[in-house]
Amino acid sequence: MTEKDLAQRTSLRFNDLWSYDSAPESSDNVQLMDRYDLFIDGTFQPPENGKYFKSINPATEEVLSEVADAGNADVDKAVKAARKAYNGTWSRIPAKERGKYIYRISRMIQERAREFAILESMDSGKPIRESRDIDIPQVVAHFFYYAGWADKLDYAFPGVKPKPVGVAGQIIPWNFPLLMAAWKIAPALATGNTVVIKSAESTPLSLYKLAELLRDAELPPGVVNIISGAGNTGAEIVQHPDIDKIAFTGSTEVGKLIQKSVAGTDKKYTLELGGKAANIVFEDAPVDQAVEGIVNGIFFNQGHVCCAGSRLLVHEAISEELVRKLKMRMETLIVGDPLDKNTDIGAINSRPQLEKIQRYLAESVEEGQEIYQTKCTLPEKGYWCCPTLVDNVSQSHRVVQEEVFGPVLTIQTFRTPAEAVSLANNTPYGLSGGIWTDKGSKIFKVGKDIRAGVIWSNTFNKFDPTSPFGGYKESGVGREGGLHGLLPYLELSK
Ligand code: NAI
Ligand code: MG
Repeated sequence: MTEKDLAQRTSLRFNDLWSYDSAPESSDNVQLMDRYDLFIDGTFQPPENGKYFKSINPATEEVLSEVADAGNADVDKAVKAARKAYNGTWSRIPAKERGKYIYRISRMIQERAREFAILESMDSGKPIRESRDIDIPQVVAHFFYYAGWADKLDYAFPGVKPKPVGVAGQIIPWNFPLLMAAWKIAPALATGNTVVIKSAESTPLSLYKLAELLRDAELPPGVVNIISGAGNTGAEIVQHPDIDKIAFTGSTEVGKLIQKSVAGTDKKYTLELGGKAANIVFEDAPVDQAVEGIVNGIFFNQGHVCCAGSRLLVHEAISEELVRKLKMRMETLIVGDPLDKNTDIGAINSRPQLEKIQRYLAESVEEGQEIYQTKCTLPEKGYWCCPTLVDNVSQSHRVVQEEVFGPVLTIQTFRTPAEAVSLANNTPYGLSGGIWTDKGSKIFKVGKDIRAGVIWSNTFNKFDPTSPFGGYKESGVGREGGLHGLLPYLELSK
């Protein structure tokens, strides 16, 4: 039997033989207001400038609600409320009490998990399977984990006296709205700081749901202030003189602007920026398992993941087999309605993001690279991109160098571990990486040589609140998660 015959006989044929019945999650129990004001000092307040903008569902292009567009007067109000709460209650109440509030927030999110998951999928386009099984459980776990640290800070840093820094200004992106909020709010509160947090333009709604929950949890007013707005609102937070610490997750471009803006001030800052991770498959790797890991690495959350495994580096000896199996597996991925429980790949978060992805692909076509897209049928409305492979690329191509932030995987081959490491490190980023091999020694050697914050071996995209996360080089500074994640929110003095 030739290799081709064998391939045909062992092909997985799904879509043309049978398909799943649709299993949509109902959005009936998601109560949305037509309009959300800013959550400042424990109440919802209209913006001073009277301006609002709309948030849409990227899978249907329907307007879900409109939210306040905070200007500098609103940012100032929010910072003042946070300062008042910091001086008045939050930095003074016993640490154990702080912990109780955070435990309560965690439990209440868990109770309302379904509503949060559905809303997150509606506002961002991510599949319900992911928001239900990953985002929201991780949100709960983060609050729960940091609640535990609140009254144990003296043990975490023995011999020094940990003190809160004051008011934290936090700016988050649209790919994991509520999860990024949890990563930032939970450690800030556990360490006795108060917060002004801004959601991203396209995904403000789950944070306003969180605001309602914080009010129900009777968190003292002003401890967490939640606002919405675009880049200029973010810049107002960064520049506000009474903010002590900036926590930012988003693009490297904006990260650099923030770094310039805080230079010369005594503001502390952490930046979690972009990535261009190599997912390296050695010739001794379990191929089927690696295929699953590659799919998870790049197609999870439509590839809108800073630590996505967006560059496949595969040993030349197994590349043909691996790519063939990868294509077969990709054909089984269901692209479509994010609220359908069968969906693997939801909607691209926004029109500008879709256009950005399409520009990269158009350039790849122009440059003669080989593009493979699955035969998925796309809904008429909304923003969609089929799972895509880009082969026949070289290291200098933009699609290999830059963060596409979509379901697009480039493929390169290598012959030796040293070559794999040099390809993996040939990037301005350094956030994550993946290694697939049967040999522990190879994992340790190659893992040590790759300059990235997180290296997964024989798995990918695994998260846990106890584990620090963050980048090297242009992927940012500072760590979030774990014990390390407390540090940016503390002054440690003898
Ligand atoms: P962005 O970096 O502009 O947005 C992230 C957050 O920063 C949003 O809340 C935004 O309002 C805020 N922001 C924008 N300009 C600001 C400024 N001058 N000062 C303070 N805050 C500011 O990212 P964008 O434009 O939404 O996406 C562009 C690209 O960035 C994506 O295609 C992707 O490659 C990358 N990105 C990476 C993320 C990551 O987690 N690594 C997350 C989001 C985007
Ligand atoms: Mg939206």
